[in-house]
Amino acid sequence: MGWPVGHSLSPVLYKYWLRENATKGDYRLLEVSPDNLAAEITALAEKGFAGVNVTIPHKEAALAAILRRPANQVEETARRIGAVNAITVRPDGSLFARNTDGIGFIENLKSEVSGWRADAGPAVVLGAGGAARAVVAALIGGGAPEIRLANRTAARASQLVRELTVAPSGPGGGKIDVVAWDRRQDALRDAALLVNTTSLGMVGNPSLVLDLDGLPFEAVVNDIVYRPLETDLLKVARLRGNPVAGGLGMLIHQARPCFEEWFGGKAEITPGLIRALLAKLKG
Ligand code: ATR
Repeated sequence: MGWPVGHSLSPVLYKYWLRENATKGDYRLLEVSPDNLAAEITALAEKGFAGVNVTIPHKEAALAAILRRPANQVEETARRIGAVNAITVRPDGSLFARNTDGIGFIENLKSEVSGWRADAGPAVVLGAGGAARAVVAALIGGGAPEIRLANRTAARASQLVRELTVAPSGPGGGKIDVVAWDRRQDALRDAALLVNTTSLGMVGNPSLVLDLDGLPFEAVVNDIVYRPLETDLLKVARLRGNPVAGGLGMLIHQARPCFEEWFGGKAEITPGLIRALLAKLKG
């Protein structure tokens, strides 16, 4: 469910895995306006869906809609992030909602950078939107000792920190500092990880202006943007020798637990899957 949703890569992913597993099933794009979101979510069971992914701009509103019915359940992480991306219809018709974006972020880094760990050192996160919330929550969960959060609108970064660090689910010892947007370069010093969660660098958007000079060469650089596949940030980082991870992997990894829950079978990442995704991205 999205609005608009036509450019989604998800049908390619799910249909590929359905074919690979010889599973009968379908994955459809549902163009749902904000006015109809709550009603469409309520109607999922009646329409025979096993589950649904929720994407822009519905992730926060879907959480509110789910919470309205006491029989429904929301996973703790999704509550903390304040957004859901996956809803499962349970046998009794009630709904279980979760957020697998953080899993996607972590699993992507683990598979792209051998030996990567969230607790390896300070992390710099650019952005404070929905994606940043999932990333920061995942880093906290993984034991990151320090997170430096820079966002154009500082108030949004401060709010993110307040909401994600409320006891008892706050970080165990790690700290989160809000860094002014025009000081983002200073935050790179002795960082172990740099993540861009903003839309800067995406096709049709302004580019991300950031001089990597102060960033250690061992620091992992991750851009969650995947259009283009290699953003300028990733290109510069790769050329200076930093380990890099692109955004397409996060999309794939957030979908894997959803496929396995809704359809059974294995959601494997194969060269064929990557080829199918690249073909869709080019088309
Ligand atoms: P998502 O849910 O995908 O994270 P979002 O909530 O719209 O999307 O967040 C987009 C992020 O990109 C925000 O951090 C936004 O900064 P603001 O909070 O200041 O809006 C950031 N962003 C978008 N355009 C930007 C620009 N031109 N310069 C700096 N940051 C930008």
